[in-house]
Amino acid sequence: MDYKEHIAIVQDWPKEGITFKDITPLMDNGKVFKSAVDEIVDYSEDKEIDLVVGPEARGFIVGCPVSYALEIGFAPVRKEGKLPRETIKVDYGLEYGKDVLTIHKDAIKPGQRVLIVDDLLATGGTIEATIALVEQLGGVVAGCAFLVELTYLDGRNKLDGYDVLTLMQY
Ligand code: PRP
Repeated sequence: MDYKEHIAIVQDWPKEGITFKDITPLMDNGKVFKSAVDEIVDYSEDKEIDLVVGPEARGFIVGCPVSYALEIGFAPVRKEGKLPRETIKVDYGLEYGKDVLTIHKDAIKPGQRVLIVDDLLATGGTIEATIALVEQLGGVVAGCAFLVELTYLDGRNKLDGYDVLTLMQY
């Protein structure tokens, strides 16, 4: 499937110099969206995943249908101040800014095998922070899956030793 046909390229958004890859046309097409989710599900099938973890907000859109298909749980990673119970947190750098990510302290049991899902791998700051949260709670990162990879931002350099799937590369 040529997923790139379903990505809208938006110049200078959200800031000048950024070329934004908008996944909403892909989501808008049920067959294409299902095919993308199915590819991540297929990738996960032999990894004995116990839990899907996805970072706010677009990681929820891609991660939740994967967890539904695998019939396992989904744990949200959210920006600071959004989760209601005890959390752990980590600072991270973004392609266009800085922020803090958090996860509920009881979201992952030690030894659980986790699949991290997000829409996009850019600088890798978000996935690096998400991995740090999962590992701090004793989770094992069994795979990381993304729809889009911006290879020119070298996010993969932060993922040495991890199993990574990306469905399209720019
Ligand atoms: C975007 C995207 C990834 C992250 C990738 O999320 O959805 O999570 O940036 O960039 P990185 O590899 O450089 O960290 P964003 O933080 O904009 O949040 P949103 O999904 O809530 O818009």
